[in-house]
Amino acid sequence: MLRTVVPPGLPPLQADKAQLEAVLVNLTNNGRDAMAAGGTLILAAEAVTVPGAENPPHNIQPGTYLRLSVSDEGEGMSPEVLARVSEPFFTTKPRGKGTGLGLAMAHGFAEQSGGGLTIRSVLGEGTTVSIWLPRLPDAVAVQERESDDTASDRGAVPEGGNAILLAEDKAEVRAVLAAQLDDHGYQVREAEDAASALAILEGGFRPDALVTDLSMPGALDGLDLLREVRLRLLRLPAVLVTGHAGDAEVERMREAERGGPFALLRKPASPEALLDRLARVLRQAGIHAIAVNQ
Ligand SMILES: Nc1ncnc2c1ncn2[C@@H]1O[C@H](COP(=O)(O)OP(=O)(O)OP(=O)(O)O)[C@@H](O)[C@H]1O
Ligand SMILES: [Mg+2]
Repeated sequence: MLRTVVPPGLPPLQADKAQLEAVLVNLTNNGRDAMAAGGTLILAAEAVTVPGAENPPHNIQPGTYLRLSVSDEGEGMSPEVLARVSEPFFTTKPRGKGTGLGLAMAHGFAEQSGGGLTIRSVLGEGTTVSIWLPRLPDAVAVQERESDDTASDRGAVPEGGNAILLAEDKAEVRAVLAAQLDDHGYQVREAEDAASALAILEGGFRPDALVTDLSMPGALDGLDLLREVRLRLLRLPAVLVTGHAGDAEVERMREAERGGPFALLRKPASPEALLDRLARVLRQAGIHAIAVNQ
């Protein structure tokens, strides 16, 4: 089973998205491999401060971080294995199964990003691997000092450009919304229901936001779809388009709000309102969402 623990209001972080993805996939696979008999894998994110202590219990410098942890209830590691896991090519997996590069890469990535990696493991009980990444304000300050001359280039990034997954069952409505987004430079992929939206993700499409109708035919409605999507793309920004919302939906909407940047758009949705909500949730995200393959 996979569980995510992501409190609302987390600060943004700055790190290379593709590398972070690769690292999280490896940690998740390691956890899965350690739980041959099953168990729960937890992906957690939290904001933490490391004070300037005399003898810190780990090698993380004082500062403020976003800590991403992957915990399993698997076999754990002996002290001998634990001492060597970050060595390149160290693996206990059978030939052809592991290259032993996963944790070495994770370690390198965390340090290059200005943070670090810690591991807690108890034989027979499980393992937690944490990646500590500096909170954005610190990282931005460092980057701006290092690359003053390229700062103006950053302004040249075209507006829009973001990839949007659009789920709406009514073909005419979907075509109108897609055309509006396309006119404003968004890259849109269209789905007629939740199942096809998930199939598009399985196909490798990585949206920066989800725009979805609430009521759609099929087993999953728009809020169910959002929950499923965020299991794969943590805290993905989302806009929910809805005609009416009953009491039953209110609690689910609160949950959607806690799960990441979220905006509601009442039907009939005007183009301006859609663009406004979308821009707002993307802005709130600060970073693009973190992808986690299951
Ligand atoms: N969650 C875990 N529980 C128990 N042992 C682990 C865990 N994560 C890593 N290990 C141990 O650390 C070793 C090194 O892990 P690492 O991710 O670097 O390489 P790998 O998984 O063996 O191969 P690769 O990731 O390159 O496919 C593993 O072979 C395993 O012995
Ligand atoms: Mg691995």
